[in-house]
This record gives sequence, structure tokens and C-alpha cells, in this order.
Amino acid sequence: MKQAIKLKDHVYWVGVHDFNCRDFHGDLFPIQEGTSYNAYLIVDKQITLIDTVEEEFFDIMMERIHSVIGNQPIDNVIVQHAEPDHSGGFVKFMNAYPNAQPYTSNAGVTNMIKQYFKEYPYIKVKTGDTLQTGDYTLTFVEMPMIHWPDNMLTYMDQTNIVFSNDAFGQHIASYKMFDDQHELTTCLEKAKDYYANIVMPYGLQVANKLKQIMAMNLTIDMIAPAHGIIWRSYIPELLNAYTEFATFKSKNKVVIVYESIWNHTQMMAEALAEGLGMNDIDVKVYKASVTSSSILMKELLDAKAILVGSGNYNNAIAPSIAYFLEKVASCKIKNKKALGFGSYGWANVVTKQINERLSKAGFTLLNENGISQNYTPNKQDLDSFIELGKEFANEIKNM
Ligand code: FEO
Repeated sequence: MKQAIKLKDHVYWVGVHDFNCRDFHGDLFPIQEGTSYNAYLIVDKQITLIDTVEEEFFDIMMERIHSVIGNQPIDNVIVQHAEPDHSGGFVKFMNAYPNAQPYTSNAGVTNMIKQYFKEYPYIKVKTGDTLQTGDYTLTFVEMPMIHWPDNMLTYMDQTNIVFSNDAFGQHIASYKMFDDQHELTTCLEKAKDYYANIVMPYGLQVANKLKQIMAMNLTIDMIAPAHGIIWRSYIPELLNAYTEFATFKSKNKVVIVYESIWNHTQMMAEALAEGLGMNDIDVKVYKASVTSSSILMKELLDAKAILVGSGNYNNAIAPSIAYFLEKVASCKIKNKKALGFGSYGWANVVTKQINERLSKAGFTLLNENGISQNYTPNKQDLDSFIELGKEFANEIKNM
């Protein structure tokens, strides 16, 4: 029988590990090492479940619940987010515990009904509303658009746990459920990966919500998100990192993303990288078609600039680059520079198309024209791209 993991007296993790997940949220977010769907059980005079799990893992969650409370009834269920990775097991849960009282946000009610076609006697909660479970008080805080309209978190007094749902999540599937059982750098890198791929478009909401939570002067001993490990030792570092993510804080770093059939655009990418990298810029170079899109989004988050290159594919941008640009355009990027580049044969149109899309996505162009190369760059051409890389390095260091 699968067991719950005790977090503190009266509080248990009853979630699941999805070790084989490689395509989180469809193919939008490729991941390398699986993830978890975290549900939590509070055993007080009233018993309360916070979130469920994906529907296919419902029975595992139930086993863990039973390992703590046997066949006792559950009094309350809190739906912090209507997305199916957390609410997918809800209907089955309500079939198993028909007398459980569901709580969710106003938008949560709407979204749950629209997704599952079932009405339940939800109690709608807003920021500051509370639920007394006996000895403990749960306080709700709405988090609209971090990253759906219905997201909210729940604060449990005395244990000082924040159940933060998607916020502060990461894709770690481990029985070592606490942050201090892993290296700090690993935890922050995973949190960055998650933020860049799920939360990045909502930086403004994150920054405002962080301020609101700080102003509530809550004592926070533990942050228990809906994915990955639970934070208890690295909380200051995590909050600092989230503040930096939300404001797109960047360093002297440039990400070069390109696609190339006959290496000409690749030669340009590598010459530009030489000029940047030899002048104190942390430069990352990726061929888009052989790189996970989630890595590109993560690397972009703290870069000062991106250079995006494509050859001419029937007078259009290479599909892998078009896909990358489409993702970037949805992220409301701020305070970053960019430039298009690429080799062409008989129609120099693609660099301009890339620049237009970068500009529309919110980047400031390093120059108006981008960098174009007719057929194969020769030695002089490559030296000129290295020089351009040096010039960009100086400009970027002064940003
Ligand atoms: Fe983890 Fe927005 O679902």
C-alpha cells in the first residue's frame, strides 16, 4: 500500500510521482525527469484535502489518504486550481466522498463546471476568507493569472505552511520531498525552468502578489507547491529568485537560437558567439530543431539579449524558429534586446521577418536591419560577424 509522507504534525503529502512524464501540458513543455502532482491532507477535527491529482493517478492518491485516515470521511476539499493536473481527480473524489464540502475561488467554480459539466455545492472564497478546521485556520489568497484566473493559495496557521499550488513549483519527481535534501542550485534551476515555461507571461501579477503576501506579514515555515519538492530551508533564496524572475532581471548573457540546413547560418551563429563570448558575455548557442523548447525558454529568462537566426525556407522562417518565436511572443518579455540573422540564396527576406516578429514580441532591436549573408560566409564575412559580436558585447554590458 502506498503511504502518505508526513510534512508536519497533522499535515501529509498524498500526491503522486509521474516519473515518466516527458510532455508536461501536451508538447508545450518537454521535461527530462518526470514531475509530481502534489495533494495535501490536513487531519484536524475536520479533515481537509488540498487539491487532487491527474485523473489517471486518482487511486494512488486514495491509497495514500487511506494510509493516514483509513475509512474516515473527508470534510472539506479545496480546489486551488481548475487545471486538470490538479482537478482531474475531483469528480472521482466527490463520488468517493459525496459529503465533502468543496471550496474554490469564484473563477474556480466557473472553470470547474465548464470542464467537468457537474455542479457541486461549492463555497466561493476570496482573499482573506478563512476556513476553521478545528485547531487550525486556513486563509485563502486568490492568485488570478498565476497562471489561470482561478489559481489561489491557502495559508495554514501554526504550522505556517503556504500551499501555493502552481507557484513555486518545479519538475522534480523524488521521494526526497524537501528542498534541503537536494542542492540549492538544483532546486532553484528547476524552479527557474518551471517559471520560464509556465509563469513567465504573468511576471507583473507575480511581482504584485509577492508584495501583497509580504505585506501580510505571515510567518512562512514551509511552501508546499503542487509540483515537485517542498520548500522549507531555501525559502529566502526562492523568494529572491522569484522577485528576479518576475522583473526579468538579467545578466551579461546572450542566447543564440538558430536553424540551418547547410551550416551557413550556423557559421554566422558561431562567429557571433565568438565575438560575444570572447568579450565577457555568457553566450549560449542552440540549434532549435535539436533542442528542447523548454531549455530555450529557461535560458531566455535571464539573458539580456537573444539573436535568432534562420535560413530562407521557401521565403519563410524555418519551422523550428517560427515555433520558438511564437512561444516567445506569448511571454510578454520586457527589457531585452534582440536581432535576427541568417543566410539566404536568392531572396533576402527572412532576417526582416524575424526582426518584425521580435519587435512585435516586445524586444528592442540591436539594429534595424539584422544580419544577412548571401550563401556561404567567407573568412572576411566571418571576421565581420566576430566584430559585430564584440560590438554587441559592449552594448549589452552597458545595458
Ligand atoms: Fe500545475 Fe496550472 O497546473
